[in-house]
Amino acid sequence: MTLFWSLYVTVLTLGTIATLTWILLSTRKGQRVEATDETVGHAFDGIEEYDNPLPKWWFWLFVATIVFALGYLVLYPGLGNWKGLLPGYAYVNSETKQEFSNGQPGWTGVHEWEKEMAKADAKFGPIFAKFASMPIEEVAKDPQALKMGGRLFASNCSVCHGSDAKGAYGFPNLTDSEWRWGGEAETIKTTIMNGRHGMMPPQGPMIGDQGVRDVAAFVTTQLHGRKLPEDAKADPVAGQKIFATTCFACHGAEGKGTPSMGAPNLTNPGAFIYGSSFAQLQQTIRYGRQGAMPAQEQMQGNDKVHLLAAYVYSLSHGEKAAE
Ligand code: HEC
Ligand code: HEC
Repeated sequence: MTLFWSLYVTVLTLGTIATLTWILLSTRKGQRVEATDETVGHAFDGIEEYDNPLPKWWFWLFVATIVFALGYLVLYPGLGNWKGLLPGYAYVNSETKQEFSNGQPGWTGVHEWEKEMAKADAKFGPIFAKFASMPIEEVAKDPQALKMGGRLFASNCSVCHGSDAKGAYGFPNLTDSEWRWGGEAETIKTTIMNGRHGMMPPQGPMIGDQGVRDVAAFVTTQLHGRKLPEDAKADPVAGQKIFATTCFACHGAEGKGTPSMGAPNLTNPGAFIYGSSFAQLQQTIRYGRQGAMPAQEQMQGNDKVHLLAAYVYSLSHGEKAAE
């Protein structure tokens, strides 16, 4: 804050408090001390007012708020650039060796938060580090680790994957045996660490509208064993050819998917995240899809991601975890 604004805030704040104090004291002066049944002489909507003094407790409540405000403004930063008398916390960030992110002492909400975080890190850091040095499969069997992982999941992942991790439209189920990017423990960790970007390019421009209908019909009848809608106007046999020349490159010749590309298995309609109806298939194929799993490395760091990976791993390896 520049000196001008600092003074502006200070004068305005203290001026207001001084004015309020003056009003409080000056109105008290002329007041009678005893209770009375005289009225002050005016009526609003027929309601009159006794000319009684302000109750004592009320007056002292006012005084207390003023004292509180002044005390607060002395201790905490509220008056322009005044940092407050509370001592700068003697806390030093163990990584940056710096006291507070802005390098300045004194109380601020951010400093308070940093202090809390440093306390939590000091308390839980060693526990996280212990689990981080164990293989994910082992961590996934530890009840304490799963409890901590579950909490991390609830606050960071459930918005998208659901609190039961069963997914939703556009977000994969993490509790089944179907994996777009692979379900090995280390692969799950890589997914969470670095994020993933599913890239299914739009096929409409390449194979045309009829091509989209035909290949969707192939997926519906041959890969899913379902019937086509009456008005489908599509030829699964022609669709099969398109699949073998276009889709196989990513989804594999049998449509079982290629985890290294995040191209999902197309033979299990229950695991589709964009829907498996004939209409939804056409939508996916015509316009493509781009699912994005945000990277967690920056936000969570290795040790927490390790716990998260163990938690996610345990969801589909329940029997093992219970051993
Ligand atoms: C360049 C690689 C590539 C090609 C070619 C490709 N796909 Fe895909 N496909 C993907 C990827 C990657 C995803 C996952 C997209 C996502 O997760 O958002 C995907 C997703 C899908 C889905 C959605 C599955 C779900 O979970 O809802 C369907 C259906 C699909 N592809 C069908 C096809 C068909 C049919 C063709 C051929 C016409 C085709 N794809 C061609 C890479 C490809
Ligand atoms: C903003 C929404 C979002 C959040 C938050 C999110 N994810 Fe995801 N996640 C996705 C999407 C979308 C995909 C699918 C990516 C694709 O299309 O291939 C995904 C994929 C995954 C996969 C791979 C699934 C597979 O089949 O291979 C794992 C594992 C995963 N997420 C775990 C997590 C964990 C653990 C967290 C919390 C730290 C998390 N996700 C937070 C959206 C999210």
